[in-house]
Amino acid sequence: MTEQPEVLITEEEIKKRVQALGAQISEDYKDVEDVYMLGVLRGAFIFLADLSRVLTVPRRVDFIALSSYESPSTAATGAVRLVLDVRAPLRGKHVLVVEDIVDTGYTLQYLLRTLQAREPASLKTASLLQKPDRLEVPISIDYLGFTIPDKWVVGYGLDWGDRFRTLPYIGVVHPPDEVA
Ligand code: PRP
Repeated sequence: MTEQPEVLITEEEIKKRVQALGAQISEDYKDVEDVYMLGVLRGAFIFLADLSRVLTVPRRVDFIALSSYESPSTAATGAVRLVLDVRAPLRGKHVLVVEDIVDTGYTLQYLLRTLQAREPASLKTASLLQKPDRLEVPISIDYLGFTIPDKWVVGYGLDWGDRFRTLPYIGVVHPPDEVA
């Protein structure tokens, strides 16, 4: 598959939405000493970079890495693994988990359970995208960019076989097994 992904959400639409989310988050956290933004690698790195720079409240940035998909052509199995942990204890911190996409919800469910056990002062979630049709567990996202249909999306951090992550827009690709 070599064709360019078809545009689903434009660069301009993403920019506007990230600014709106940033304004909302800044308002909600205005009385908080520090927002501890926790990006989920790898997909969230661009959303986190942009979101963190539009906040007007003090914030720190850290990363966590989880593994859920064996390959781009396999669906989520629900098996989630922590492959990189945060550097600092989370006790007493206002943690904002930043994801690129919530699909089945297993990754976020695992992450919230794991992080809650570390006794943060608060624990909220931001995700650029969500596929409501794919959700298998009851997860609510505090700051959501866009809901999208059940398509394979790439760009703005999301990949297909490690390709297309740095596209400035969200696009749709059609993996070969889907086309056949
Ligand atoms: C994606 C995404 C989420 C997860 C969501 O990560 O970044 O972390 O899948 O899926 P779920 O809701 O079905 O659990 P992926 O495993 O593709 O890794 P990547 O971010 O490194 O590309």
